[in-house]
Amino acid sequence: MAKGKLTFGDIDVSVNVPAGTRVIEVSEKVGAGIIYGCREGDCGTCLMSVDEGIENLSEPSALEDKVLKENMAGKDMRLACQAQVIGEGETIVKPA
Ligand code: FES
Repeated sequence: MAKGKLTFGDIDVSVNVPAGTRVIEVSEKVGAGIIYGCREGDCGTCLMSVDEGIENLSEPSALEDKVLKENMAGKDMRLACQAQVIGEGETIVKPA
C-alpha cells in the first residue's frame, strides 16, 4: 500500500502513513497542535495550513469546501478531519 510522509511543522515530527489516513488521526497521536471539535467536517475547528505537498491530499468534499469558504480559508488550508493523505510525497501541515 502506498505511504505518504506527513510532517507536523509545529512540533517537527514526521510520520509515514498509509494512503487514506486522515491527518487528524495522526495529529492526535503525535501531539501536534491541531485542535478539533466535531471530527465530521462541520465545525471548522481543525483548520490547518498546508505548507508543502497539498497535492498529496485528497480533494475537499463539497461539505469541506463549504466550511473552508465559511472560514475564509486560503487555498493552502484544509480541514484536518477531512483531508486524507493519498500521495507518496511529503506533506507539511501546521495549525492554522
Ligand atoms: S473537527 Fe470539526 S470540521 Fe474538523
